[in-house]
Amino acid sequence: MPSPASDRIRQEWLRRVEAEYRSSAITQQLTLWLTQLGASPDLIRDGLRISDDELAHAELSFATYAAAGGTDAPRLARETLGVAESGDGLEADIVRTTVDVFCLGETVAVPLFRHLRERCTATEARAALDRILLDEVRHRDFGWTTLEWLLAQPIATDVRAQLDRELSLYFRRLRNAYGRVRATTDVTEEEAAWGLMAPHRYAEIVDRTWERDYEPRFRKLGVDARNAWEAGVG
Ligand SMILES: [Fe+2]
Ligand SMILES: [Fe+2]
Repeated sequence: MPSPASDRIRQEWLRRVEAEYRSSAITQQLTLWLTQLGASPDLIRDGLRISDDELAHAELSFATYAAAGGTDAPRLARETLGVAESGDGLEADIVRTTVDVFCLGETVAVPLFRHLRERCTATEARAALDRILLDEVRHRDFGWTTLEWLLAQPIATDVRAQLDRELSLYFRRLRNAYGRVRATTDVTEEEAAWGLMAPHRYAEIVDRTWERDYEPRFRKLGVDARNAWEAGVG
């Protein structure tokens, strides 16, 4: 039985509730855009199911926060719950969100949550991470399936040109979100039991995901991502 949770543990799980709301909202937005583009009902249903998964993750994260002794409501920054239209057109917004949020974000989420779950023994936290990890594999696959579909459409040339222009920006954003902390302070046993991980581990996992997932998956779709990755490192 893990010892009672610290304030840091509560804050992290409350932050995760907000992040899951954001994931649901962004997926709802992308799914609406795919509907407007006339994507197949199968792909649209996959998107709807993911939006619902993210709400389940929010509920499980909130249950963990409450079990850890938290009593506040999550702070939702409503302007961050969704993706604003860029003005570049429907197709460009779909490509950007698919690749940035799903091919990059949901792909690295799989090993991230696997590591968070590794030493996690607190009952509610473990239940949340079990479900989240199971779902993230399907969310990752949705991203790569959608990109593959986009590259099989008449707009494929535009999609490739957009990736040439923007992929380095997505990689840089990802590394800014996860990859900048190199200080090696580990979390406590208690924090690990509640599903937290040392900040520097995030950077290591992003680097490993480049080798194991990003490079080979982009290459399989005829996208040479190496320059974008190198540019995103700087
Ligand atoms: Fe999630
Ligand atoms: Fe997800």
